[in-house]
Amino acid sequence: MSRLRVAVLASGRGSNLQALIAARDAGELPIDLVLVGSDKAKAGALQLAGDAGIPTFVLDPKAFASRRDFDVELFRRLDESGADVLVLAGFMRILDGEVLKPWVGRMINIHPSLLPKYRGLHTHRRALEAGDAEHGASVHYVTAELDGGPVIAQALIGIRPGDDELQLAQRLLTFEHQLLPAVLRLIAESRLSLLPPDVVVLDGNPRNGPLQLRNGHLVD
Ligand code: GAR
Repeated sequence: MSRLRVAVLASGRGSNLQALIAARDAGELPIDLVLVGSDKAKAGALQLAGDAGIPTFVLDPKAFASRRDFDVELFRRLDESGADVLVLAGFMRILDGEVLKPWVGRMINIHPSLLPKYRGLHTHRRALEAGDAEHGASVHYVTAELDGGPVIAQALIGIRPGDDELQLAQRLLTFEHQLLPAVLRLIAESRLSLLPPDVVVLDGNPRNGPLQLRNGHLVD
């Protein structure tokens, strides 16, 4: 069987991309990384991809007349790459709901909160300010609704007394690096799909809640 062809979009340092590369290299993730794209020329993710021999591209939002024009070109590049699946790994732009439609069911995002809590930005700060006892990260199918698509799996961590935003983000990141490859592996093994509009199907069975990351594995 041919390996899943995966494209990644990232705006920042790219540690989640690095986790995918490491899992692939360790033989734990049967994928080919075919393209990494960014909206930021200086994104660390581009450097990591280049070092790993993965083709890259940058699109500068300022070079486009509108947000929609940017997204049309973005998805043209992704289509052209022949990717089966698109992973948003710290891609910090809102995508046009119409333009992304053909990718619904083939596009996942990692978000640093226990969705549906804290969509959008500053999730760690908001969890701390709310006095939450727990925080976490979610991987979800991307739909037109920002951070609103069906959640596939979550990693949950406790908030410790004295945690600040940075400590919390850093501690969570370690679990993100397990969560994202674990979900992508289910897709690569053809075990996971989206039954539109919002039902996650695992091994042929509709799920009624996210999988949980425990000891590096996804469980009920
Ligand atoms: C990660 O924490 C990811 O969950 C978050 O950006 C960070 C990227 O880190 N994504 C979002 O906030 C998306 N809304 P990385 O560049 O080191 O992978």
